[in-house]
Amino acid sequence: MKNGTGRNACPTGRRAGLLRVRHNTEDLPGSLLITGASQLLTLRGHGPRRGNSLFNLGIIEDGALLVRDGVIAAVGTHAQVEALPEARAAEKLDLGGRVALPGFVDSHTHLIHAASRAEEYELKIEGASYEEIARKGGGILNSVKKLRAATSEALKKRAAAALKKFAAYGTTTVEAKSGYGLDIVSELKILGLHRELAAEQPLEIVSTFLGAHVVPAEFRGKADGAEKYIALLTERLMPEVASQKLAEFCDVFCDRGAFTRAQSKRILEAGKEYGMAPRLHAEQLSRTGAAQLAVELGAASCDHLEQVNKSDIRVLGKSRTVATLLPGCDFHLGLQKYAPARELIDAGAIVSLATDYNPGTSPTLSMPMILSLACTQLRMRPSEAIAAATINAAYGLRRENNIGSLEVGKQADIAVFEVADYREIPYYFGVDHCWMTVKRGRVIHVSKQSPI
Ligand code: NIG
Ligand code: FE
Repeated sequence: MKNGTGRNACPTGRRAGLLRVRHNTEDLPGSLLITGASQLLTLRGHGPRRGNSLFNLGIIEDGALLVRDGVIAAVGTHAQVEALPEARAAEKLDLGGRVALPGFVDSHTHLIHAASRAEEYELKIEGASYEEIARKGGGILNSVKKLRAATSEALKKRAAAALKKFAAYGTTTVEAKSGYGLDIVSELKILGLHRELAAEQPLEIVSTFLGAHVVPAEFRGKADGAEKYIALLTERLMPEVASQKLAEFCDVFCDRGAFTRAQSKRILEAGKEYGMAPRLHAEQLSRTGAAQLAVELGAASCDHLEQVNKSDIRVLGKSRTVATLLPGCDFHLGLQKYAPARELIDAGAIVSLATDYNPGTSPTLSMPMILSLACTQLRMRPSEAIAAATINAAYGLRRENNIGSLEVGKQADIAVFEVADYREIPYYFGVDHCWMTVKRGRVIHVSKQSPI
């Protein structure tokens, strides 16, 4: 089973060092009884959370779960679940009074990149803006140069190490975008790595094609360069991505310095023809109308939203397109303007949170840190932030039937925190309190740190 000891896993709840983490995907787990959650945050209830339902976490005190073959078979109090006949024979995992919740669903990352952009970080601190750096050939094009020069092996090694860290912060599903290749070979290389990594390590990876991140350098000098690049994307790359089934979603960076609203519409419509559902980088640096375009196209999500206006908020409030907020970007870039989370929640929008892990605007893989920013900067309650980072994020990846809450029939994807109260997860900002991460009923991370 999960701990490889053949005995009750961590019977005292304080002996994490005894646990062994397994990654072998062929070693399917049997029944597992998980007890000792002082607060079990189930997030039960159907569909995505809007308005007042966003802060309802469905908490069970002294909660327990029965897991069969990686799927949740029962949820309830310790007494209820332990009384089930199957629970007696199951292997046991005692959480020792810690707080358990659904594993975080990080619905926006740029997982595959070759290196950091620490050199630009310093320029930004000295006063250069993100867009100024980009205009001088830095920014995304800097990462494109680095990625094209990197080997597949090096890219994979870096991403695999990052995925281990995502798991160490309680994340169990990661969306991953291409977009630092921007030519046929390099984009296919990135998407191929998504597939390989999904097969070789325990976190679930949701692949998104972001060939339309920016127009690459070799097309910028040409007459109609942007149009020629769009033709390459829609006529040559997309058919290949679709025939190899390398991406579930198609994304576009619709913004000043990237793609216009009209271009984004054409790219996403072409993506749909090739079976990729749309999502959008929208209203980050300037207002382009991308959020309303996302709703028009029935996009799964539109992300960033710092520059939305009242009409965008109204439209998002009535739509099924998730409003994904990425406060790590504004924090890292030192911008004072965060997305208007409260107004979006009040309007009824399906608000979600993600890291936007990338080397230019948000080099973090910590969802707990994003929750802290959501609470202090976006004025979201801890409960709202947790729902946004689990069930609503799952909805934004069209996986709400499998992940995002702890309910019978869903995957046993669980994050366990070394805290007494769930509000302490964002409260201790920048402190790593994730004690254990479970993916499909298997322990994939155990902390070696002792509690505070
Ligand atoms: O989500 N805005 C576009 N894409 C990324 C930044 C990419 C980069 O700077 O490398 C984002 O913020
Ligand atoms: Fe992004």
